[in-house]
Amino acid sequence: MTIILGIESTAHTFGISLVRKGKILSNIRRSYTTEKGGIIPLDAAKHHQENKKEIYFEALESSGVSEEKIDAIAVSQGPGLAPCLLEGMKFAKELSKKLEKPIIPVNHCIAHLEIGRTTGAKDPVMLYVSGANTQIIAYSFFKFRIFGETLDIGVGNFIDNFARYMGIGFPGGPAIQELAEKGKKFIELPYKVKGMDITLSGILTNLRQKIESDKYNINDLAYSMQETVFAMLVETAERALAHTGKKELLLGGGVACNSRLQEMCKIMCKERGAKFFCPSNNLLQDNGAMIAFLGEIMFKKGINVQGKAINELDIKPRQRTDDVEVKWR
Ligand SMILES: Nc1ncnc2c1ncn2[C@@H]1O[C@H](COP(=O)(O)OP(=O)(O)OP(=O)(O)O)[C@@H](O)[C@H]1O
Ligand SMILES: [Mg+2]
Repeated sequence: MTIILGIESTAHTFGISLVRKGKILSNIRRSYTTEKGGIIPLDAAKHHQENKKEIYFEALESSGVSEEKIDAIAVSQGPGLAPCLLEGMKFAKELSKKLEKPIIPVNHCIAHLEIGRTTGAKDPVMLYVSGANTQIIAYSFFKFRIFGETLDIGVGNFIDNFARYMGIGFPGGPAIQELAEKGKKFIELPYKVKGMDITLSGILTNLRQKIESDKYNINDLAYSMQETVFAMLVETAERALAHTGKKELLLGGGVACNSRLQEMCKIMCKERGAKFFCPSNNLLQDNGAMIAFLGEIMFKKGINVQGKAINELDIKPRQRTDDVEVKWR
């Protein structure tokens, strides 16, 4: 029976998980956070370097599997922050050497999508909303095709920046959701949908000016930000459902933890007779389980790197979702 170990380290989180037959045996993660200010890549990488061994042993212990039983090591190859990716790749190579097992290089974004299979979604339109990425994706002929995306920043980074302007540290998403729940008055903000794409930097500038003017209640601003930006996401996702004729919507990525976004997606799906799927929060935010889960599927199709070729294996900080040839579907 195959056991795959997955390593995630593309940004703020270092995670390790063991998966057997699609079942997640353990999913241990620790994240770099700040009190004030955004993520500093070298500091996040240091966090990973300092925590990786402990997380590894914790993941082994909580799965009840000894390391000799591991058949292959799946690692997030990209996209992501280079110093963080390097920590994961270095650790994968160390383990591969020690255990004499192959490495499976996994695309982080596609792992965020494929973990959605655990919810029962079969052929969904996917709304992938994370820190660096915001994309509407659907699978067709060996590629995950992008139907629409942000033309500037990812929605998670957008929310984290908005939070930073209010003096809230990283990650800002959960704190902003709490403020938004207390908001009462809707404040008109720019609504920026361009065809199937969205832009967020103009809205961010507008919000920044509103915060600096001190004329607005911050709960109302957080509420209005969520209502406006999530409506933009739901609108493009709905259009992708209409275009493709698909009948399922799957949410993925850290911002999908937001309960208001989930609620808005549910309402849209109900109105058009589509099914809505969303993994649990520990599978939405960066985690090793999604890497191990997709790694196992790829490994079973013979996709892995062995022997001397491992020395050539490198990180891919800018790899795009639609560059990856999907040989496992
Ligand atoms: N409840 C929430 N509401 C809104 N945003 C949230 C919530 N919880 C987490 N987030 C946001 O999710 C983001 C992190 O998501 P994730 O871990 O998938 O991103 P990432 O790995 O940084 O980005 P990518 O997957 O694009 O590389 C952060 O920007 C964080 O603020
Ligand atoms: Mg991510």
